[in-house]
Formats: sequence, structure tokens, C-alpha cells
Amino acid sequence: MNTHTITAQSSPNIAFIKYWGNRDNTMRLPANGSISMNLDGLFTRTSVTFNASAQTDSLLINNKPVTGPGLTRVSYILDLVREMAKINERAEVKSENNFPAGAGIASSASAFAALALSASKAAGLNLSEPELSVLARRGSGSASRSIPAGFVEWQMGSNEKDCFAFSIAPVDHWNLVDCIAVVSAAHKKTGSTEGHALAGTSPLQNARVEDAPRRLEICRNAILKKDFEAFAAIIEHDSDIMHSVMMTSNPPLMYWQAATVGIFHEVRAWRAGGLPVGYTVDAGANVHVLCLGEKAKEVEKRLRELPGVENVLVAGVGDAAKIVS
Ligand code: DP6
Repeated sequence: MNTHTITAQSSPNIAFIKYWGNRDNTMRLPANGSISMNLDGLFTRTSVTFNASAQTDSLLINNKPVTGPGLTRVSYILDLVREMAKINERAEVKSENNFPAGAGIASSASAFAALALSASKAAGLNLSEPELSVLARRGSGSASRSIPAGFVEWQMGSNEKDCFAFSIAPVDHWNLVDCIAVVSAAHKKTGSTEGHALAGTSPLQNARVEDAPRRLEICRNAILKKDFEAFAAIIEHDSDIMHSVMMTSNPPLMYWQAATVGIFHEVRAWRAGGLPVGYTVDAGANVHVLCLGEKAKEVEKRLRELPGVENVLVAGVGDAAKIVS
């Protein structure tokens, strides 16, 4: 095959209805469906070159060589691509993020979405959007949602092939903005992969999963109808339910910091005072505060004044994963 380099770019996403726990950990078949929006302006850019003279796969993240479990996880996706494309060459992978990794802004989502797209193209494959979403999912569940554009739903599916994400509304459908209050940019203690495996140890997880279709429907409708009040209520509810499962698993996972809880109280007070806002938190301490575009400056300003807030990242609705060169 011809050796050439393909570079793809993908945005992380913020889940409004969360993925937490798998029915199959190896295949990353989730216990429930989830809904998210891609985050514009934040991205991972990944280049893949299959090279007949390379002895092993190699990985550079932000110009630093990565070996061990990080490389193994990337090689796992490269193996799937090699199998599909019927090639044997090892690959050189170079990846760069423009946002801090491991701090509740899911870097694995944009990383594996960009890898799935660049590696499959570099291997000469032309995968469909659902096929790319499935491939990205094998690297990181939430990465399945960073393949399609805008507002995205990841359906549970009934098997490995129909477990993919699709767009439920395009980028320009609704001018939502995510103001991410960075509380701690330090690397999180328990990664999502280990966390998913613990979900079933919480007595609350079954109730969370059983009730998921109801929450998905409310959230999907709120997005489609651009009903911010219903949207804010359901995202806070869903985030609080997921964190209840995390806190009651064995061993328990407590991702919140004091500042995290402080922001919850502020957000609720702001809403009561007439500013439309709602919060959600992934597997970290940072608080994602959602609002409409015209309120983003005000929300950012208020968040910056709060104790424990180190930085605020502001992101609108992001596009699909795409090839950049
Ligand atoms: C809390 O997709 O990071 O952000 O599949 O093990 O890579 P792996 O997990 P990951 O889990 C994301 C968990 C979450 C909620 C969500 O994004 O839906």
C-alpha cells in the first residue's frame, strides 16, 4: 500500500444523559443510551502513517512519546483497522490536544474519534459514519459520540454493529454554550474505564439504567424543542443520578471537590434569579455550565469570580470529526 499521512480532527463532547457502566466492558456496549453535544474550539488533531519499515506502533501525544497502557489502547484500534483493511504495517501516530487532558473534559472521546477516522483513512478504508462511530467506541465509549456533528445520541443497540451514535440535530440547531469551570486540572484518580467496571457494584445502578429511556426522551425533546428550562432540569437530574451511583459503588468514587458543590449552589441561585443556566459534571471535578449563547459572557464572568475556579473554557456546539489533510 502507499504510505501517506492522514490527519483528522475531532472535538470532545459533553454528555447530557450520561454513559456509566457497560453491559460488555470489552466491546464497550453501554448499559444505557446517552446524549451529548460536541464542543466547538476544543480539539484533538491526530496523524496516522502506516510504515512498512516500522517494527512497532509508536505514539506521540503533545510531542511526548507514550508507551505502556496508552500505546496498547491505541494499538488495539490500529489492530482492528489492520484487520478490516487486511494490512500488516505498523503505524506512527501523532496526536495533539488544545485542552488539558484527564480533568473532566473527556480527552479520550476526541482522541479515539480522531484516531478512528485518521487510521481507517490512512489504511485505505472508507468507513460510513456508523462504522466510524463503532470503531471509535471500541477505544472509548464516549468517542462514538464525537464522530457525528452537533447534538448526538448514542443508541445502546442490540449488538456490536448497531451500537453507534448519530446526530439528532445539526450544529446550528440551537445556540447552546458550555462554560466549563475548571476546578482542578490535575489528572483524575480513577479513570472512566475503571469506573464503568464498578458501576454495577452500586445498588443504585439498576434503577439508573431502568429509568434511562425516560430521561433520554425528556432530554431529546428538550433539545429538539429548544426548551431550556426542561433541558436544564434533566441534565442536572441525570448528572446527579450518575454521581450518586459513583459515590455508592464499591470502592466509592467521589469526583466532586468542595468548589464543585459550591458551583451547583451558585448555578441554582442564578437560575432562581432569572439567569437560565444548568450544570452537568463528568468523571472529574470540573463543572460544565450550559446556557444560551447570549448569556455566555455573563455566565463566564460570574464563574470566574467564584472561589476555587482556576479557569473557564467556553465552547459552543461543535462539528463532526473530519479529515484536515
Ligand atoms: C462520565 O467514554 O471516558 O464522561 O469507554 O472507558 O473510555 P471509556 O469511558 P468514557 O466514559 C465517559 C463517562 C462520562 C459520561 C459520558 O461521557 O457519557
